[in-house]
Amino acid sequence: PLVAVVLAGGTGTRLYPASRSDRPKQFLDFGGDQSLLADTVARAAFADEVYVLTRPAFADDVREHAPSAGVLTEPEPKDTGPALVYAAHRIREQVGDCVLCCLPSDHHVSGAFATTMETAAAAAVETGGLVTVGVEPTRAATGYGYVNPGERRNGYFTVDQFVEKPDSATAENYVEEGFYWNAGIFAWTPNALLSAARQTPLEPLVDALDAGRPEQGFDAVDPVSIDYAVLERTGRAYLVPAQFEWDDLGSWDAFERVLDADPEGNVVVGDGLLADSEDCVVATDGHVSAVGVSDLVIASYGDRTLVVPKADAQRVRDVVARLRDDD
Ligand code: GDD
Ligand code: MG
Repeated sequence: PLVAVVLAGGTGTRLYPASRSDRPKQFLDFGGDQSLLADTVARAAFADEVYVLTRPAFADDVREHAPSAGVLTEPEPKDTGPALVYAAHRIREQVGDCVLCCLPSDHHVSGAFATTMETAAAAAVETGGLVTVGVEPTRAATGYGYVNPGERRNGYFTVDQFVEKPDSATAENYVEEGFYWNAGIFAWTPNALLSAARQTPLEPLVDALDAGRPEQGFDAVDPVSIDYAVLERTGRAYLVPAQFEWDDLGSWDAFERVLDADPEGNVVVGDGLLADSEDCVVATDGHVSAVGVSDLVIASYGDRTLVVPKADAQRVRDVVARLRDDD
């Protein structure tokens, strides 16, 4: 069977202050008619079973936003590496042999999603490796992983190199050299992931899970994403090109790519009034006005306001720990 694992345990730091540690991005709708999580679960309908993987503190919110899905809670929030290893182990116990399709819940997708996922699942079975969905880059983004495709096979490529979040000069080279973006959407069998994780810092977790001690396993590893922990290290990654339009809604600059702008290039979510301003992203649950500004993000939710040059939207991640001190 195909089992979808929807990732919904992150705190969405780069979308501060809409996204807060107790109400992160996956539970917000950003002007659409349902939350990003509900969207993702709807997109997972190609699978035979759907689980949402999250941290314990979000379990009730997940049930509310995704009533049709099963809920898996990892013992401790330690980023996607430990979480996905835990999910593979648990689902192998419950379901047995299957293909896991891992879907982040902060994506904007339109097009042949199910077809791409079926191709990815088939490649996961054929190769016994770790399959990532690749998107052709349109800019030298620094917030994504980059994948250098090797030889073309039956509907997929081998992978020569996987590099998570390079700096912008490196990203520019990769775009020129024909690398793909890692969409962060993966297909693998539980056995493929668990054996790849054995050659990484996640090995103590795999051992502890085998011994029936998940809590100890989580204590034994540091927080790390699956991209840094496993994908950058494995020699058994494969890539399936996406047959859909794709964007990651993880940072404020993404909104200008997926929402309609006014004639001045401003994208406004909520009640914003801009005069003599261009190419701004404004998002608020209150009211924001601005005069004579350009290329800014202005985000105002509750009693918090963030102003940042649009080009620096990724940097919100670095300062948000401090911003959130009294969250
Ligand atoms: N269960 C669980 N536990 N989920 C988590 C955790 C956790 O500790 N941390 C993050 N997530 C979820 C988030 O809610 C999100 O849906 C997904 O995992 C991905 O996390 P992000 O924090 O949004 O990752 P990213 O966007 O920086 O990078 C990843 O996605 C990019 C494409 O969107 C990487 O895979 C990149 O290589 C990739 O390009
Ligand atoms: Mg993301």
